[in-house]
Amino acid sequence: MEPMKAREHFGSRMAVIMAMAGSAIGLGNIWRFPYLVGQNGGAAFILVYLVACVVLALPVFMAEAIIGRRSGCNSFGAMRVLAPGTRWKWLAMVTVITPMLILSYYSVVGGWSVDYFIKSCAFRFTGDTSGIFGRFISSTWEPLITHTVFMAFTAGIVLLGVKKGIEKFTKITMPMLFVLIVAIVIYGLTIPGSWKGVEYMVKPDFSKLDANVVATAMGQAFFSLSLGVGTILTYASYMQKQENIVTSGVCTASFDLLFALLAGFAVMPAVFAAGIAPEEGAGLVFQTLPFIFSHMGWAGAIVSILFFFSILIAALTSSISVLEVGVAYLVEEKGWTRVRSTLVLALATWALGVLCSLSFGPLSGVKLLGLGFFDIFDNLCSNWLMPFGGLLFSLFVGWKMSKADVRDEFTNGGTRNVGLFNAVYFLLRYVAPVGILVVFVTNLLF
Ligand code: TRP
Repeated sequence: MEPMKAREHFGSRMAVIMAMAGSAIGLGNIWRFPYLVGQNGGAAFILVYLVACVVLALPVFMAEAIIGRRSGCNSFGAMRVLAPGTRWKWLAMVTVITPMLILSYYSVVGGWSVDYFIKSCAFRFTGDTSGIFGRFISSTWEPLITHTVFMAFTAGIVLLGVKKGIEKFTKITMPMLFVLIVAIVIYGLTIPGSWKGVEYMVKPDFSKLDANVVATAMGQAFFSLSLGVGTILTYASYMQKQENIVTSGVCTASFDLLFALLAGFAVMPAVFAAGIAPEEGAGLVFQTLPFIFSHMGWAGAIVSILFFFSILIAALTSSISVLEVGVAYLVEEKGWTRVRSTLVLALATWALGVLCSLSFGPLSGVKLLGLGFFDIFDNLCSNWLMPFGGLLFSLFVGWKMSKADVRDEFTNGGTRNVGLFNAVYFLLRYVAPVGILVVFVTNLLF
């Protein structure tokens, strides 16, 4: 089936991978992964995470890519094109609501990066990096203002359109971020006490594993690869027919994993060297890396400015991809203008983000099941809604689309990856859906 209408396409193979990697690599890798590793017991969590990436996330990635490119549409439209007259299009609503929830708290953490970038420029890091973070996060206005700034940037970039807005940013800052993190890892390991962090990252303690740890690892795999909300689907709809879906998936996932592991190896050694609790939570990266910077003397100032700048760009290339899903939906399905869609969505998610931001300060007493707004949103999205979206995508490709169509898309008309097809199809049809359901059920029961 041909796409509904002619759409812009990414220019080259590298551009597709860079854009997908730009979406995947972000705060999920640098901020979320290390703190989850700390909260969930280290190396054992990492192993479960690796398994979840390969057996659950990668197949779902390919499912989204197949649906997106086949239909040439956003997730809602894709269901209309590929499964006309069915209820699948309503299920795809998950993919419109979830991204907005994600963006609300993502933008709050993006705001923290803005704040830390500004603090770096003002050379504001001393030894007490935990205290600095604690005061910042529990205040009212500072995090709110930076959340607003981050959201404004996100909306501004989305307004510029797909090519200009997205491609431009991913090319320069990713390599820079990579070099900086490697430098931080190496320097961090020279600080006394830091090797305990390496041990924590590589020596699994399986007694730490339980149903919740497994669910968290799965959620992180979906979060980090931008899955289950139609981001990859929407990006793949901009992909040309000759691009290789498997290569794009494997490259994106490998880059993503590389950044996550490096961030872990940057943060954990500093956790132990600085005597911070690994379980510290959402503030971990903001407390540990400045600790390393404060050890670096004058070079620390420069490294921290460049580091927070490149994190900021990485966060923006991710946040624009989240917003883009909703905008594509409103423009293509509801006939709204791009400007109106972007502004309305950005404003609504900003307002939700305000609740998340305040949940560390003035609203810290407001809790549901022991969690504040930020944690509720994060938990709901990563551990439930994103895997649920992934479940739907894998079911759609595995059970609803005809096998011939899936094969045609997966193998580019029988020219690529023919030998791999049956294995991936099996993963998509059985392993991923059953795996996700099992994690859901065990997480509910235990
Ligand atoms: N993957 C991104 C990160 O790791 C965040 C992100 C971008 C995302 N788009 C998404 C998460 C879509 C879930 C769904 O920072």
